[in-house]
Amino acid sequence: MEQTENKKRVLSFVQASGTPTLGNYLGAFRNWRGMAAENDCIFGVADLHAITVRSAPADLRRRSVEMYAMLLALGLDPEKNIVFLQSHVPEHASLAWVLNCYTQFGEASRMTQFKDKAARHADNVNVGLFTYPILMAADILLYNADMVPVGDDQRQHLEITRDIAERFNGIYGDVFRIPAPYIGKKGAKILSLQEPEKKMSKSDPNVKAFISLTDPDDVIVKKIKSAVTDSEASVRWSEEKKGVGNLMTIYACCTGKSFEEIEAEFAGRGYGDFKAAVAEAVVAEISPLRSEYERILKDRAYIEASARAGAEKAEAIARRTMRKVMKKVGFYQG
Ligand code: TRP
Repeated sequence: MEQTENKKRVLSFVQASGTPTLGNYLGAFRNWRGMAAENDCIFGVADLHAITVRSAPADLRRRSVEMYAMLLALGLDPEKNIVFLQSHVPEHASLAWVLNCYTQFGEASRMTQFKDKAARHADNVNVGLFTYPILMAADILLYNADMVPVGDDQRQHLEITRDIAERFNGIYGDVFRIPAPYIGKKGAKILSLQEPEKKMSKSDPNVKAFISLTDPDDVIVKKIKSAVTDSEASVRWSEEKKGVGNLMTIYACCTGKSFEEIEAEFAGRGYGDFKAAVAEAVVAEISPLRSEYERILKDRAYIEASARAGAEKAEAIARRTMRKVMKKVGFYQG
């Protein structure tokens, strides 16, 4: 895919670490879908990153296919955009190796996500976990991305990507485009329905705390009805009312209404009415996505053909970058 002059190249990857949640959808995926209409987009399943945490082979395979099907279900058109799996393009690992040699141990040691993960998985602090951000830098730099939509937790990884790219360009000339972070319009951070001090997470042991994108409608309704609120019983935006604030954010994202409009809509009405409306709005958003996902997941031939086509298009770009890098560094190319 040649990059069209006036279009920006947007790139983002997602880890296949389980069924994504409403938080992933409202915070990231939905924006991707919006961006895909106006930009040259490259979206990938970060399956190479996934093996920094041990999992059964069949499990990794299933999760990767499911996440890929979810990207297609979102409406990221594989004809117009590149939608692929990272492990299908060997240049990711090749460039990551080169970039390893242009990254200082000290700067990689400052990555807060590594420190957190190392503390949480003390039994498997592998070197891949340490060099994870460098593989991510390779993902981004291979494709000359202009913009990378990422959540707060990936901000530091994008910064190290820029540092590595600038350092490399400083030595070898203009090889890499320096990517900018893309910050969504509404910083929709969706919180746990049960402990609204925490982010909504698919790995929460309490399944009532999150809405999975594959939850059936009646489960979505039940989870929203049992969301933690407070005893004030008024739909009002306030820093202290985290539970209600979270439901307001969800409702705002799904309906496009502002907080003021929501407050006016529910003035003098209790949480029961409000939760019913939130549930209805979430179902309206998620239900069509879930049916599309289930339909695509059954169509293995379509998944395979799309993944293959995506990898071919990605590889054509990646190969060009990698060739340039190898030449610049001084590998004999014959
Ligand atoms: N590390 C990212 C995450 O966990 C996933 C990722 C891998 C990524 N490579 C990327 C995101 C490149 C943006 C660009 O969310």
